[in-house]
Amino acid sequence: MKKLAPSILSADFAQLGAETEKIEKAGAHIIHVDVMDGHFVPNISYGATVMKSLLGKTKLPFDVHLMIENADKYIPDFVTENTGYITVHQEACTHLDRTIEFIKSFGVKAGVALNPATPPQTLEYVADKLDMVLVMSVNPGFGGQSFIDNALTKIKKLDDFRKKNNLDFEIEVDGGVNLSNVREICDAGTDIIVAGSSIFGAEDIGNRVGEFLELL
Ligand code: DX5
Ligand code: ZN
Repeated sequence: MKKLAPSILSADFAQLGAETEKIEKAGAHIIHVDVMDGHFVPNISYGATVMKSLLGKTKLPFDVHLMIENADKYIPDFVTENTGYITVHQEACTHLDRTIEFIKSFGVKAGVALNPATPPQTLEYVADKLDMVLVMSVNPGFGGQSFIDNALTKIKKLDDFRKKNNLDFEIEVDGGVNLSNVREICDAGTDIIVAGSSIFGAEDIGNRVGEFLELL
């Protein structure tokens, strides 16, 4: 089954609890948490404190997308009873194998994200340890950008690679996903769809989640 992970980066932070409740009631599966440090990406978003403010308010698992340097230092802060996945960037981790093991040592699923310019082959020697590969379909840092079409080729390559090698990592796609392109993105082999502005920018957030779910 395909899963929908709304990104709270585009939520109204003054209403974060209420907006999260809306997406959960409408049937979203996961909450995507975008953490930006102003170094690895040219923007600062929020840290673990904001994510933790949702604890006890939602049953949905957190999917933590760390767009940060020195990820090892901060990973423990993001481990909570709701944390389902922690994803780090291939480009930001010098000792990627060690970082993946570190995430898994907390009993959390480990993901690695690939920027648009990063080839999927860079994950060949860690793929057997991965629970998820996040294909960035925009350059990370901001919500509301346009989908980069080359991401479809990368998704297909990763899907072929996991089939050929009998691997079971999930494929997540993040950036520029909307109602018009989501079906094609799913067909390429995606398991988890992230959507930020196209959900939280909608007039009726719950309704928009429903529209996405019909297309998955
Ligand atoms: C971009 C973030 C995305 C972003 C997606 O750096 O990783 O998760 O919130 O936003 P949309 O869906 O608006 O492209
Ligand atoms: Zn993200």
